[in-house]
Formats: sequence, structure tokens, C-alpha cells
Amino acid sequence: MIKKPASLLLAVVLAAFALPTVAQAPAAGAGSSSYTGGAATPPASAATAAAPGASGLTVAPPQSPSPAAAAGPGAAVPSPQAPNAQAPTVANTRPDPALGEQKYTAVCAACHGAGGNSGTPANPKLSQQHPEYIVKQLQEFKSGKRPNPIMQGFAAQLTEQDMKNISAYLGTQKAKPGFAKDKELVSLGEKIYRGGLQNRQLPACAGCHSPNGAGIPAQYARLSGQHADYTASQLVAFREGIRKNSPQMSQIASKLNDREIRAVADYIAGLR
Ligand code: HEC
Ligand code: HEC
Repeated sequence: MIKKPASLLLAVVLAAFALPTVAQAPAAGAGSSSYTGGAATPPASAATAAAPGASGLTVAPPQSPSPAAAAGPGAAVPSPQAPNAQAPTVANTRPDPALGEQKYTAVCAACHGAGGNSGTPANPKLSQQHPEYIVKQLQEFKSGKRPNPIMQGFAAQLTEQDMKNISAYLGTQKAKPGFAKDKELVSLGEKIYRGGLQNRQLPACAGCHSPNGAGIPAQYARLSGQHADYTASQLVAFREGIRKNSPQMSQIASKLNDREIRAVADYIAGLR
């Protein structure tokens, strides 16, 4: 009688330890095999290059994702709340993707595309992005910590609850794949993304954004398939101190020249 709960508890503890590994393993596999943008990709080196410690750099590797955040699309579908209670306006309410879709379609889709699949290179794709990352960006547009004249205006009109609703909705929208375009530069981009640049203490992008660019919930943004123009503009903004909402990324971007930025942005566009 006493034995059973104890072993159950042990199983739960073990499962909790096992989860992050399980969640990250398929991402690594996908990254090494599914990139189709360039010439032959060396699958064997991908895993080693992506391992945070492999380049001998000191940037702290990302923490394992929390199981809830790693659950992926579909997990955001809420179970019904208390039957027909008055819609609460407290900031702590659960995200409502259906309300998020309404607002998104009415206000944001004109620039960011249906379901977040923007077709305009200057306007980022938002589909499948980690909801927590999107909420953070919207809060920081609103506060001016990430200055942008267009988005500051739109974010200013959103409540915290709107932000959560829209982000939950976008997290469920499947991203359409993008493509790398620049044959000359893409191999340099791949080298930087997977291995960093040791002589400049530049860590591999894959260490935080994962080998296939899916990112790691909740902090490490999804990058794969993003418009190269947008990615390059953000790296420049981090480097020039215009986008100041991530000390990590400011430091990383400060080590990249324009050509390297174009190369890695192009490689990212082809990641899937
Ligand atoms: C007039 C066009 C336009 C509209 C409308 C618009 N956006 Fe944007 N959005 C942009 C542009 C341009 C950027 C890139 C800003 C930058 O360079 O930092 C952006 C950036 C963002 C980002 C940052 C993405 C990232 O990967 O970091 C988020 C999130 C976002 N928008 C959400 C929204 C939401 C939600 C709405 C509706 C409430 C909205 N946008 C409406 C043009 C628009
Ligand atoms: C140490 C971890 C780490 C490494 C290594 C790293 N990043 Fe990031 N990156 C982040 C974090 C955290 C964010 C989210 C910043 C925020 O919250 O605004 C981010 C955001 C970004 C963004 C903005 C995404 C968007 O949608 O606006 C781009 C682009 C990016 N990283 C590119 C890169 C590239 C290219 C490399 C390799 C040269 C790289 N990162 C290496 C942690 C990292």
C-alpha cells in the first residue's frame, strides 16, 4: 500500500528528467537531415557543431524547456472555463486563441499575412513562433524597449490579454517553409549557424536556436524559414544598439560583419 505511491512518485520524477532530452533529440535529428537549401550537407558534423560546448565558448547553453511550453501546437487549445462565467478581464486569464484569431485577422494580418505567414520580406513571419517570445516582443514594442514606429503603435492598442490570445493563436499556425537564395553565401551562413566562429568567440547559433531553427521555448526564438531581409535587419539592429531587448543577441551580433549577417540570414531562410 505504501510502496505504490512511492514508486509512482519516482516514475514521475524520472519522467520529468527524461522530458527535456526527449524534446530536444528530434530537433537535432531534423536539423541535420532536412536542410535542403545548399549542396550536400554533412549530417555527421551537424550534431557536434551544434553542441553548445563544441566550440569551446563560454556562452551559457539554454536551459531545458519546461514541459508545458514544449508541448507544441495544439497544446494551446484551452479547455472550457467555468461555464458561462462573465468573461474575466484579469491579466491572469488563460489565453484564448479564438479571440486572438479575431483580433489578429482584423488588425495584424494585413502586414503579417494569413496565419502569420507573411509574404512581405520586411514584415516578419509569426506563425509557429513561441507564444512567450511574441508576448515579450509586444510588451517591449509597447514600452519602447524595442523601438519601432510601426509596431509601437499597434502594440500600444493591445492589452496583456490580447497579447496572450494573439500569441496563442499564432503558435498554432503552421509555418510555410522558406528558401535560401544565395548559393555563394549560404555555405558561409551554414558554417556560422552550426559552428560559430571560434577565432572571434562567436557561439554557434544552433546552440540556442536549435539545429533546425525551431528555437527552444520559451526564450529562444524560432528562426527557421524567416525572411532573410527581416533577419538581417534585426541582426544589424542588435549590432547597432537599436534593438536593445536582448543583451545576448547584442553581443553576438556585434561580432558579425555585413557579409556574415547576409550569409547567416540567407541560411536561416532555408532552414526547416
Ligand atoms: C503596417 C504593418 C504592420 C501591422 C499592421 C502589424 N505589424 Fe507587426 N511588424 C511589422 C514590422 C515592419 C515589424 C518588424 C519590426 C522591426 O523591424 O523591429 C513587425 C514586427 C512584429 C513582431 C516581432 C516579430 C519577431 O519575430 O520578433 C511581432 C510579434 C508583431 N509584429 C506582431 C504584430 C501584431 C500582433 C499585430 C497586430 C496587433 C501587428 N504586428 C501588426 C509590421 C506590422
Ligand atoms: C546564447 C544564446 C543565443 C545564441 C548563441 C544565439 N542567439 Fe539569437 N537569440 C537569442 C535569444 C534569447 C533571442 C530572443 C531575444 C528577445 O527576446 O528579444 C534571440 C533572437 C534572435 C533573433 C531575433 C528573432 C526575431 O524574430 O526577431 C535573431 C535574428 C537571432 N537571434 C539570430 C541569431 C543568429 C544568427 C545567431 C548566431 C550567429 C544567434 N542568434 C545566436 C539567443 C541566442
